[in-house]
Amino acid sequence: MTTIGYDKDAADNIIDEFGARPEMLVQILQAFVQRFAWIPEEAIRHLAEKLNRSRADVHGVVSYYHDFRTRPPGKHVVRICQAEACQSMGSRSLTEHASNSLGVDMHDTKNDITLEPVYCLGNCACSPAIMIDNKTYGRVSHERFDQLVGAMRQSD
Ligand code: FES
Repeated sequence: MTTIGYDKDAADNIIDEFGARPEMLVQILQAFVQRFAWIPEEAIRHLAEKLNRSRADVHGVVSYYHDFRTRPPGKHVVRICQAEACQSMGSRSLTEHASNSLGVDMHDTKNDITLEPVYCLGNCACSPAIMIDNKTYGRVSHERFDQLVGAMRQSD
């Protein structure tokens, strides 16, 4: 994943695309994550000012949603589905395996790899599902996980 530094002009363009409407805060934050890969403190201050909301309001929304990461991600982002269908097919065990084999805890980044939970990738029929750098994979066993991570590392 490419992390782009926060750019106030680009942020203003995004905010303006949504009419600088406070009720569009979630959508604006989603666009920020797509553009910058994370939500820095500077973005929260900027948004609060532009949308005439308190910083606490914006912080509240950012911390409520898992997708709004507040630290820059690594070059690769590995997401493991934690929703019900995937849990019933072993996603907890897969998460433990991923954390051990990558040497990184959930919500953390190490060696340029970020490990994150996700709550349904729309791939429930092929549980457990994961996403690596925006590509979804289903029926991921521990062995398949290792293969996928190996391929991800080779792509560097
Ligand atoms: S519950 Fe995991 S993809 Fe839907």
